[in-house]
Order: sequence, then C-alpha cells, then structure tokens
Amino acid sequence: MKNVYDDILQVVGNTPLVRLNSLTEGLACTTYAKVEFTNPGGSVKDRIAMQIIDDAEASGELKPGGTIIEATSGNTGAGLAMVAALRGYKTIFVLPDKQSEEKRAALRAWGARVVVTPTDVDPEDPRSYYKTAARLVEETSNSYYANQYHNPANPEAHYRSTGPELYDQMDGKIDVFIAGAGTGGTLSGVGKYLKEQNPDIKIIAVDPVGSLYYDYFHTGQLTQPHSYLLEGIGEDFLPSTMHFDYIDDVVRVHDKECFQMTRSLVMQEGLFCGVSCGAAVAGGLKYLRRHDRPDMNAVILLPDSGSRYLSKVYNDNWMRENGFLESESSMGTVHTLLSTREARDLITVPADAKVTEVIGLLKLHGVSQLPVVDSNNKLIGIISERQLLERALKGSRSNVAVGDFVQANYCTVSHETDISVLTDLFRRSKVAIVIQDGAPTDIITRIDLIDFISRTSGKRDIS
Ligand SMILES: Cc1ncc(COP(=O)(O)O)c(C=O)c1O
Repeated sequence: MKNVYDDILQVVGNTPLVRLNSLTEGLACTTYAKVEFTNPGGSVKDRIAMQIIDDAEASGELKPGGTIIEATSGNTGAGLAMVAALRGYKTIFVLPDKQSEEKRAALRAWGARVVVTPTDVDPEDPRSYYKTAARLVEETSNSYYANQYHNPANPEAHYRSTGPELYDQMDGKIDVFIAGAGTGGTLSGVGKYLKEQNPDIKIIAVDPVGSLYYDYFHTGQLTQPHSYLLEGIGEDFLPSTMHFDYIDDVVRVHDKECFQMTRSLVMQEGLFCGVSCGAAVAGGLKYLRRHDRPDMNAVILLPDSGSRYLSKVYNDNWMRENGFLESESSMGTVHTLLSTREARDLITVPADAKVTEVIGLLKLHGVSQLPVVDSNNKLIGIISERQLLERALKGSRSNVAVGDFVQANYCTVSHETDISVLTDLFRRSKVAIVIQDGAPTDIITRIDLIDFISRTSGKRDIS
C-alpha cells in the first residue's frame, strides 16, 4: 500500500514547493511558494498545534480530558481542534471579530466553543482577545493555555519540521526565505534552522501597515499600532516567539496591495490561498525586485487556503466596499516625493535637550514637531508643539530633558516606500520620518503629501 496513514496527523507537513511563474515575470531569480494549505487542518499552524500538544502532554500541563484554550486568528485553532479531536480534549477559542465567519464555522465543526472579542481594543483591555483567553483559563478547570505568542513549542515546531523539510526539498540551494510575521514562530524557527545550515541565507519578514514590527526592526522603537484588515499577520505587541536575531529585513505591505495580490495568486498562478499569502508575496516581490540576481533561489511561505476568506477577498462587494477593487495607480515612492519637494535640512533634537531649547528650535524653524535622537543618532521618538503646550498648561517643569517624554505618534518610511503605503500610514500618524541606516534623514507631513499629489496629478480628487 502507498500513501496510507495510521491517522490524519501523519499527513501534517511534507508540503509542496511550487514555482511561481507569472507573478515573478521580469525577475531573474527563481521563486518558489511553500504551499502550506495542503496540511489537513488547512494551514501551516497544524505543525505548531502538534508540537504544542505533544510538549504539554509530555510536561504534564495537559491532562487527559482537559480543555485546550487559545487566543487564535483561526488557523492555530483549527490545528489544535484537529489534534484535540483525535486525543479526546475539549477546546475553547477566542477570536477577534475581524476574523472571517468561515474560520469560526470551521472551528465549531471540530466541536470547539468559539468566543468572539472586539478587534479595536488595547491588548491590556480586559475585552482583548489575549485577556479574554487568560480569564477563560482561570475559570475553566483542567484547562491548558496553548499561548502560541509565548509558547517556545511554536518556533520549535518550525525549527524541527518546516526548516529541515524546506532545506531538504531545495537541496540546500536556498538564498532567501520570506514569510509574513504573526507570532513570528514561522520566521524564527525556519530562520534559526536555515541560518545554522548557512548564515548567508536571508530571512525576510513581511509586516502590514498598522503593525509594529516594521518600525521596531528599523528603529528599535515601539510606535503606535492601529487596525488593518489583513488577517493572521502583524501584531500590536512583541510576542516572545518573534526572534529578531534571525531576521535580516522587514518589508511593509498595505491592505490593498495584499488583497489584490491574493486574487492574482489565484488567477495567475492557480493557487487558491488566503490573504496572508497575498501579503507574503506582495512583500516578497518588493524585496526580490530590490535584490534580484539570476542565480538566486527564493521561497515564500503561503500559510493557508482561500476557502476561509470567501466572504471577504473573494467577494466583489466586500472588496468594493473597502476600495480594493480599482486598480492601483502608481504615484511613485517617497524618493519621488522628496526629490520633487523643496529641499530642507532635517533638524533633530538630542534626547538630553531641555524643553526650553526645543521650544526655541520649534519657533526658529517654524515647525510643529521634531524627531528626537539618542547619542548614536538613532530615532527614539518625536516631540511636538502640542505636547509641549499640554505640559506647559499642566505646569510641568521646563528644564527637564525631552528624551524622557517623547511620543510614538509617527511612522517610519524609507526612500523605497510606495506613496500608496504613505497614504495609508497618514490615516493614523501625523508625520512620517524617513530612516536610512537606522538614522532619521527627513520628515514628511500630510501637507507635503497633499502638495505632492496635487502637483503630480491635476485630475486626481484628493478631498
Ligand atoms: C493566516 C496566517 N498567516 C500567517 C500567520 C503568521 O505565522 P506566524 O504566527 O508563525 O508568524 C498566521 C498566524 O496566525 C496566520 O494565521
């Protein structure tokens, strides 16, 4: 007998690598997709579900008849529910309300209880999905909290299965590995394994606008996160399963390009996949275009299938309502904007500058905010006119160093950042700081963007 298994769990892993042919047109390198939706639970998360449950059984934390609880965007839940079904555990999953109805329905099909929580609340808010899961663990007897954001079994699963499997499939001839960053488990586990085989292999994370990984990687600062529609990737806190030591670069993507790329993956490559796959490919292609060479082999990991997103990315009404259907007009990059704007020197403030000095600088240069840097010229935040006014009204002292109360209300961009990404970023952040080699080199305000758009397109309506 061939391809016969003792149970469904033996089918997890050994997923195919499929070359991308159409979307990569114009690139000299060869790019493969690691197609994880062929896992029996429908996603890459089957791998971590098995490792998490195996480890918890071995340590005695998960006992017979116990209840597994998890805060999950859906896929980890599916994996855990599948293993639980075979091994006699109950499951409770907490999902943020932006997750698709299909994901909730799938979890219920495996017999899980599903608790839905609001998306737009702080991680520390008692209604957040992390806090709700923690409360359910306390209230449920004989329960086990899978905790994929802080469970070392998560990256370990990828270190033991995804990494070696991929390296073997490629006969070691892999130069770049690209994946979306959620818990960071995939990137950290695969990254660790691949770097152990060959430290020159580049590990690239893809992060949505609104998440904090991009800014954190490029500046070391935690900026203000905000909501976005992509599911499964990006975070508003730093999970301990995300190991930046193995990451060589973080590429940023925005909702629209990812939803459009997801559709292109189906229509041009025949890969019926989920939205974080579109994100990984959109971000991956940006990286590959910048580092392209003929002898390079890249692998992009595609985490799940399109079947869980039928009511969203594969629904024209939903796409239209969110403004994702019309074609992307190319307005250029931050570099285009800066090269057409009147040149101005960037004024930065050292972290030990006193409030009085900063007020003087703001007045002298007629600006309303300034970037604050440490002694190595690394950005640590911004200081604004409004913030100084609020402090003055509260009667705060003016001889204190501004480094102690900088704000995180900014976003960082590079010269390569697309103007459409910048437009998205300005929905929440007041200013964008241009970073090169970790140091701020320029500042872009909303007025700069409006001016650029109105100068470059007489016809475009910018109201
Ligand atoms: C659909 C989807 N894509 C990507 C990821 C990110 O993978 P990781 O958590 O290993 O970073 C997740 C994680 O939840 C996911 O559900």
